[in-house]
Amino acid sequence: MPPVVSFDPLLQADGAFFDGIAEQALDPMLTLLAQLRTDTRPDKIDLGIGVYRDEAGKTPVMVSVKAAEDLLVRHQPSKDYVSPEGDPGFLRHLAPIVLGETHAADQRIAGIQTPGGTGALRLAASLIARANPKARVWLGQPTWAPHAGLMQAGGLETIDYPFFDRATQAVLFDDMLRALEGATAGDVVLLHGCCHNPTGAELTVAQWTAVTDLIQRKGLLPLVDIAYQGLGRGLDEDAAGLRALLTAVPEAMVCVSGSKNFGLYRDRIGAIWIKASSADAAHRARNGLMIAARSMWSMPPDHGASVVRTILESPELTTLWRGEVETMRLRLHSVRERLAAALPAIAGVARQTGMFTLLPLPAGAATALRVERGIYLMDNGRINIAGLRDAVLPRFADAIRPYLP
Ligand code: LMR
Repeated sequence: MPPVVSFDPLLQADGAFFDGIAEQALDPMLTLLAQLRTDTRPDKIDLGIGVYRDEAGKTPVMVSVKAAEDLLVRHQPSKDYVSPEGDPGFLRHLAPIVLGETHAADQRIAGIQTPGGTGALRLAASLIARANPKARVWLGQPTWAPHAGLMQAGGLETIDYPFFDRATQAVLFDDMLRALEGATAGDVVLLHGCCHNPTGAELTVAQWTAVTDLIQRKGLLPLVDIAYQGLGRGLDEDAAGLRALLTAVPEAMVCVSGSKNFGLYRDRIGAIWIKASSADAAHRARNGLMIAARSMWSMPPDHGASVVRTILESPELTTLWRGEVETMRLRLHSVRERLAAALPAIAGVARQTGMFTLLPLPAGAATALRVERGIYLMDNGRINIAGLRDAVLPRFADAIRPYLP
């Protein structure tokens, strides 16, 4: 369950309401960001938060996004609310890109717009809790740090299953299946659609099939978090496991982020789609999502959705956007190859995908690298591959070489 904020009822009775809130550490990502921002060393290296950076170390607004924003500034007629589901055009245009044409046209699949992938996950937790409050959510370890908190915030119990062994840099697939045999019908299994965060490791096609079989056999609900589509093997390739799963299973949830592949991090754009057993059930599930959203953020922010819709409505801007995603993907891949060449001990990094890898560093190494060298990575050894431009990669490789096996 979530870390409980402890209150001293006596202080509340005295009227000092907020004095009763105990000091709590921020999540490791936020702590790292705060440390990075106050570090004045000009040569510090930021490998922390998962934000794409180009070879100059910058995160420019994508050209397709700027073009869409120009159009919006000139033509957006109003800032009135769009609708409780968000922008229907955004959902209609994004669905085929994520789900594929066939699933996008399936009446048993319905979705709404959310503030980022995080909002989608939080809504998923609410709807799961409403449909089956006893559902336990199985999380592969390691996983994106907020996953557990988001599920627990919805009132759900989380259970870990093994996913990746940092020492051998291998997916623990047999262990994963063995653990998931312990799930009971109505439990939820969270899977990363692609570009696993924090490991970069992916399930093969055969492994997607095997886990799909297990999910069906045991009556589990898959919850797929896909936040890095296009940055692994390609837009369609990265969604292949998800789409095959959707074909096979009667019910599923899909949480999508537009932060990375549209570079709209601060605009908070995402979506959630539910596959239900019938069009009617999908309609009711969608209403359930909107009701849950209404008590959290009411209606989602519009700007990111308008940008994505404007891009995807235009064949020219869509081609431009696809090209920009491919440029990011190829750069990440080439950084992985250069890192593998510089550090043969982690040669497997070249076979991984997306923005992250989890380095097999001993305890304390991340702190030492931060304090002594100004190299910022997560304490668990996760680095953002995109931060390793040519100008810093050799220095980074020299710094971590002594720590590697
Ligand atoms: C990350 O994993 O670094 C990103 O998804 C950003 C975040 O909020 O954690």
